[in-house]
Amino acid sequence: MCGIVGTIGNVETTEILMKGLTRLEYRGYDSAGIYVNDQAGQDHLIKTVGKIAALQAAVGPQVQGKLGIAHTRWATHGQPSVANAHPQFSPSKRFYLVHNGVISNFSELKATYLAEQTFASQTDTEVIVQLIAQFVEQEQLTTLAAFQKTLSLLAGSYALLMIDRQQPDVLYVAKNKSPLLIGLADGYNVVTSDALATYDLTDDYLELHDGELALVRENDVTILDQKGETQGREPIEIKVEADAVGKGTYPTFMLKEIDEQPAVMRRISQHYLSAAGKIAIDTDLVERLAQADRLYFVAAGTSYHASLVGKRLFERYAEIPAEAGVASEFGYHWPLLSAKPFFIFLSQSGETADSRQVLVEAKRRGLPTLVITNVANSTLAREADHHLLLHAGPEIAVASTKAYTAQIAVEAVLAKAVGARRQIAAAQELDLAGQLAMAATAMDEITDNHETWDQLAAQYLGSATDAFYLGRGIDYDVSLEAALKLKEISYVHTEGFAAGELKHGTIALIEPGVPVITFITEVATADHTRGNVQEVKARGGNVLVIASTTCQQLGDQIVIPALTAELMPLVTVVCGQLLAYYATLQRGLDVDQPRNLAKSVTVE
Ligand code: M6R
Repeated sequence: MCGIVGTIGNVETTEILMKGLTRLEYRGYDSAGIYVNDQAGQDHLIKTVGKIAALQAAVGPQVQGKLGIAHTRWATHGQPSVANAHPQFSPSKRFYLVHNGVISNFSELKATYLAEQTFASQTDTEVIVQLIAQFVEQEQLTTLAAFQKTLSLLAGSYALLMIDRQQPDVLYVAKNKSPLLIGLADGYNVVTSDALATYDLTDDYLELHDGELALVRENDVTILDQKGETQGREPIEIKVEADAVGKGTYPTFMLKEIDEQPAVMRRISQHYLSAAGKIAIDTDLVERLAQADRLYFVAAGTSYHASLVGKRLFERYAEIPAEAGVASEFGYHWPLLSAKPFFIFLSQSGETADSRQVLVEAKRRGLPTLVITNVANSTLAREADHHLLLHAGPEIAVASTKAYTAQIAVEAVLAKAVGARRQIAAAQELDLAGQLAMAATAMDEITDNHETWDQLAAQYLGSATDAFYLGRGIDYDVSLEAALKLKEISYVHTEGFAAGELKHGTIALIEPGVPVITFITEVATADHTRGNVQEVKARGGNVLVIASTTCQQLGDQIVIPALTAELMPLVTVVCGQLLAYYATLQRGLDVDQPRNLAKSVTVE
């Protein structure tokens, strides 16, 4: 979703901003812009639609200065266009502003304060900069007072950077709900929505809390709360490994991340499981979970699909009832809770606004919370009572792959720890290190054969406009994730559903040639699923069966090693990921940055 970079005090401002925007490309965007002020009255505003390369081409050598802000925009209010791209500016061209988030009361603010004004864009953001300008230019407030007054009127989410041309020695910064970090560099400062943008400039960051603002100068940062009182803040360290954010020899991030999954399994095993079978997880967390009478998993997208598996893992190995909810639904439709609930949030990015709003409400109700995330110091990691890291390394491709398998592996570790604490036999008997090692080996075998998947994708999905993924039980869970992978990057209309539901309606869509990819790893239901396969074949469906060794039959196209039932998605999903990957490449589409999508969905 939108990305922000700003800097003050370095002569290489343009380079810092453009490099930062390039690193934020992975988040998804449709237009971009940069404003640079040379602190001597010269300034430059450049905005383009499309890729950063277009902005880079438009930024000439004359764009220099020691103060600047830049933005990648993912359209919410108003189509992708130069006028709607950020920075937005006041009619007087004195104030320039970039914004991540959504101002939910922008129409009311416009009607109340800016009815006489003309607007150059359709954005909610322009309302903010026009308000600031109005309070300065008509009510004679200082810029700081106008900034504070404007913030006090805003409802919704925002990370803001604002420049007043008449005060080129200060960058105005504010945050509410949307992520924002102030990086302390050597002799200058940077501000960003994502530490990936500035990882080579500093490891030391100041966090802003919701509702706070900051005045960032070349060598100084002042943080003010909503009452205008100065707040002390110690820097936190955020380290991003340089080689982990590159593609290396891979053509795309997605393929690199798919292939990294065996290593991620081994890393999780090393991190959380000792050779002696001890589990390295905070005992307080394990104890609190063991006392819970019901677990509530909350997540979005792929993380939600991993939470479906988490529910099964906890019910089997810890014998604690569990529910999995889609965050955007859960937040506004809370179920009746059990007497001793425990909330588990799954989020690769740790920034998903839908999940965060449930976390905020859970905390308000005083409920215990855990976040399982890939990003240390992310908003959810900071705000939950407990957090566990995925140790998957940065995931850059918009389509989540290694985070899903890492989430399942960490859920399994936790379920085993809690089950062992509750003296559940299934947990005590589970050789998780062995299972994760087997999963890694099976993943290796699958990812070693890119050509096979390229061919299968051509054979089954080559000219498809619709596709279906079928499975029962744990295979149903993975069919949802495999379907999401295919639809989000190839734009093929895809559904994943419970095989038994087929004849209750969806079978009407099966006609000659329609691809139906079927997962069969659950022994108890394998025969029933085979029956569904026959029903599809009888109507001409083009069936590809991916079966485990425990369920295999002659004619199955792919056979994979069997793990304990709940861990089968670690392997089956890799097949789905590679099918989606090659079907997308064959269509000549951008695998890493699919249309309309953002990596980190920071608005509700
Ligand atoms: O960062 P999160 O795991 O909270 O993100 C949740 C979803 O936005 C994310 O999984 C999304 O569905 C991906 N594009 C799936 O590949």
